[in-house]
Amino acid sequence: MSCNKDCANCGCIDDKPMIERITDKYQKLGQNPDVYMEGLLWSKPITYWDYVMTDSLLNLQIQRTTLPDEMVFIGYHQINELLFKMILWEINQVFENESINENFFIEKLKRISRYFDMLSSSFDVMGDGMEKAQYEKFRNTLTPASGFQSCQYRQIELASTNAINLIDNRFRKDFDPNRSSEDIYEHLYWQAAGKDYTTGEKSLLIKLFEKKYKKQLVEDIENGRVNNLYAKFLSLSNEAQINPALIAMMRHFDYTVNIEWVMAHYNAAAKYLGDGAATGGSHWQKYMHPKYQRRIFFPSLWSEEEIASWGMDC
Ligand code: HEM
Repeated sequence: MSCNKDCANCGCIDDKPMIERITDKYQKLGQNPDVYMEGLLWSKPITYWDYVMTDSLLNLQIQRTTLPDEMVFIGYHQINELLFKMILWEINQVFENESINENFFIEKLKRISRYFDMLSSSFDVMGDGMEKAQYEKFRNTLTPASGFQSCQYRQIELASTNAINLIDNRFRKDFDPNRSSEDIYEHLYWQAAGKDYTTGEKSLLIKLFEKKYKKQLVEDIENGRVNNLYAKFLSLSNEAQINPALIAMMRHFDYTVNIEWVMAHYNAAAKYLGDGAATGGSHWQKYMHPKYQRRIFFPSLWSEEEIASWGMDC
């Protein structure tokens, strides 16, 4: 019997009996394998509900109203957060790989992009999947909360490109990328959703968000100076950087996150809010549209015309 695996721990030899390989593993760890064997003897078989923790997971959708469509709203936000987690999980493996090569990068980018394709193509769950009348009722129990306060969404942005590309478009061109991470944080595009740059006053939406996540995000900006997908792409061989398939995949990811998902979201907001205010209180009609945010993760992969017309045809 062979394991055909690169067993860093067990040091198995392909044709060794399983029991010997398990014994070797624990002995190598300085552990008494018999204890583990006895553990196997008494342990109860695992079940799907134990492993996936369905009982806990399915009790996490706590409604604030009895309106049935609020369950759709909560469930879909939680699905988004789980997919955000899977995206960050893949991105971190790219960062941890010290000798990254083209194939590894492409494989990971395929997964990351696939998850965001799911997020973008499924936004109809929000756009067409709830009754407007119900949304208009339960949303008032949510103020001032907003998806804007999704920390993982911000971490995906900061892990995708250098934070300089996320600076508010009004200041981006002349912004010195060597300024402190705290300074960069204060000028990120999304501060515009609730910060008055003349007084420095911030909305409750941002104040509550920062109380919980600012320290983490400033750290992410600092780490992101070297660790971001764009920097990893630019660290690949020159040959890899001109690989048309890889460039197409990078552009696809950039466009999906910063145009398609943003517009799917914008259209859902337009449907449910009309000209009304947002739960988070931003001037969302202006703030959320890609032609204002002009968020582009990988600028060198787009032509000047494409950058100049970013989000204009949405
Ligand atoms: C009916 C559905 C939705 C509506 C009406 C809606 C509305 C809004 C509005 C108006 C904003 C601007 C900030 C504010 O003032 O609140 C916003 C921001 C945001 N929402 Fe939603 N949203 C919806 C669903 C979602 C979902 C499912 C997610 C997934 C996690 C999400 C994530 C976000 C994020 C990340 C932001 C910040 C975007 C940015 O800074 O550009 N939203 N949303």
